[in-house]
Amino acid sequence: MTINTQLFACTGKNICIQEPCLIDYPEGLHLGDNIHIGRGTEMQAAGGIHIGNNVVIAYQCVLWTVDHRYEGELLPYDYARIRKPIHIEDNVWIGRNVIIRGGVTIGEGAVVAMGSVVTRDIPPLAVVGGNPAKILKYRDKKVYQTHKEQGHSLWTEDGRCGACYGEKFYFVEQTKPTSKSLYQKMKRLLFR
Ligand SMILES: CC(C)(COP(=O)(O)OP(=O)(O)OC[C@H]1O[C@@H](n2cnc3c(N)ncnc32)[C@H](O)[C@@H]1OP(=O)(O)O)[C@@H](O)C(=O)NCCC(=O)NCCS
Repeated sequence: MTINTQLFACTGKNICIQEPCLIDYPEGLHLGDNIHIGRGTEMQAAGGIHIGNNVVIAYQCVLWTVDHRYEGELLPYDYARIRKPIHIEDNVWIGRNVIIRGGVTIGEGAVVAMGSVVTRDIPPLAVVGGNPAKILKYRDKKVYQTHKEQGHSLWTEDGRCGACYGEKFYFVEQTKPTSKSLYQKMKRLLFR
């Protein structure tokens, strides 16, 4: 299966979506530049999903913008569809197995811990976790600002995605393995 990004509302450059992912209503998906969407992620974009630049969404996340009306004329819910958009601003990292419901904005530079359920807006630079997700702490604002100003990004200048561990990926530089064999070993583990 190949994901046809032309179905999306709009895309920037350096988009990487690991298969399999489920994207329902792809015409509601707006993607900026430098985006990684991990394997097994499911998006229901009928209410609009707007993702900024430099965003990592890890494995098996769920972004769901449509709800049913349970106080209508039928049980357990009626035919009405309640659509609310999700906004994810620049430089956000969504950990694995996170669920985000419609109507929330995840502020710039925020980090969402693995397994969280996001039900309310998250302020910029917050690190949040739990169900419902609460603020655990904040990123260092000064450090963040410096990286932002200097354009430090997980994506290389030629557009490779550091989150995918592609050939010559950033992992090598970040962890500084002492030998080529250690690098090969790490690679084997990652591609298993
Ligand atoms: C969010 C994250 C980066 C925080 O890491 P950290 O800064 O080292 O966090 P700490 O260990 O200092 O923990 C800070 C607090 O957050 C809590 N916390 C950490 N992860 C949590 C989680 N997933 N859910 C709820 N609370 C969590 C800790 O219990 C701790 O609380 P305490 O101070 O009351 O004990 C990390 O927990 C995480 O979820 N990473 C995502 C990993 C992932 O999904 N990778 C996929 C590949 S991209």
